[in-house]
Amino acid sequence: MTSLLVTNVSELTTNGERTLTAAAFVVERGLVAWVGDAAAAPATDEVQDVGGRAVIPGFVDSHSHLLFAGDRSAEFAARMSGTPYAAGGIRTTVAATRAAADEQLEANLVRHLAEMRRQGTTTVETKSGYGLTVHDEARALAVARRYTEETTFLGAHVVPAEYADDPAGYVDLVTGPMLDAAAPHARWIDAFCETGAFDADQARAVLTAGMDRGLGGRLHANQLTEGPGVRLACELGLAAVDHCTYLAADDVSALRDSGTVATLLPGVEFSTRHPYPDARALVDAGVTVALASDCNPGSCYTSSMPFCIALAVREMGLTPAEAVWSATAGGARALGRDDVGRLTLGARADHVVLDAPSAVHLAYRPGVPLVAHVGSSAR
Ligand code: NIG
Ligand code: FE
Repeated sequence: MTSLLVTNVSELTTNGERTLTAAAFVVERGLVAWVGDAAAAPATDEVQDVGGRAVIPGFVDSHSHLLFAGDRSAEFAARMSGTPYAAGGIRTTVAATRAAADEQLEANLVRHLAEMRRQGTTTVETKSGYGLTVHDEARALAVARRYTEETTFLGAHVVPAEYADDPAGYVDLVTGPMLDAAAPHARWIDAFCETGAFDADQARAVLTAGMDRGLGGRLHANQLTEGPGVRLACELGLAAVDHCTYLAADDVSALRDSGTVATLLPGVEFSTRHPYPDARALVDAGVTVALASDCNPGSCYTSSMPFCIALAVREMGLTPAEAVWSATAGGARALGRDDVGRLTLGARADHVVLDAPSAVHLAYRPGVPLVAHVGSSAR
């Protein structure tokens, strides 16, 4: 067994009791085996001197849609000239995804995962939702599970064109044969509860069907308008409800009381010109807030957690330390994980060495590639 000492860390964000300065930690069997002052570090087989740089836990991106083909850059350009974002654009990607071979879907996934890792992300949740047939949803998830444990079945993304006249029939398909085919490859079930997608009754039917099959529940809600989705997620005790852009006072109290994580996706507001949610108010109300990329070809095509952190600090009222917590430990909570998102004893040693003396630089230097090195238990 080899032990590795990572030392000369100017600032070590552990997400434990405190952030350490002049720190070090030991990695054994991919796990954190010791954390403390560099001066007190034990002897190890190998030593990595990070030269007075900051280290944070690897980002936990708890919301992405990487099983897709095609490009919607023209839609983005039109949006920047005033065309509003609408859920219907999803159908463009559905057509391209259905036409893509398995190998193309896999290559696209692998490319985006590598892009994420270069930017410090070490745990990735990703969803189906651009196939919307039994075959296409199942094959997307079968590809995804080869690369991540955090796979989510999102057959209830939108009603596909061929079911436009029979949305109830589509919900029956999702909760029946499609769930049967997808469930073996998925850890989570999700739905898009929004005007133009699925209403609360339909979302409830989908979520409860999946949860009855042993999948965990998460939900897209309150992205484009206020609505019942956040309260539904809290009532069902879901791990997380994502977007939370338009919240009423009783949504905030439901989040606080249920413990359901509010996952904010500021890249979406950046790319759709909707207003940013008030993360400060949520944290002050006692809500657990996660930050995730929502990387997808329509509403937000960034894979960068540092960019999301910069937006959360500049536009949503989080402190830099809170934003880093939400992008690491917060994401872990949203996935019901306690082995990632922290650098404390026994956690996976997934970590990011920043080309900076402190994690504040992630927000202070937006757009600058500050990830010097990514170390992870996956090796
Ligand atoms: O999370 N909100 C629904 N789904 C995605 C967008 C998908 C798309 O536009 O292709 C989202 O924003
Ligand atoms: Fe999404």
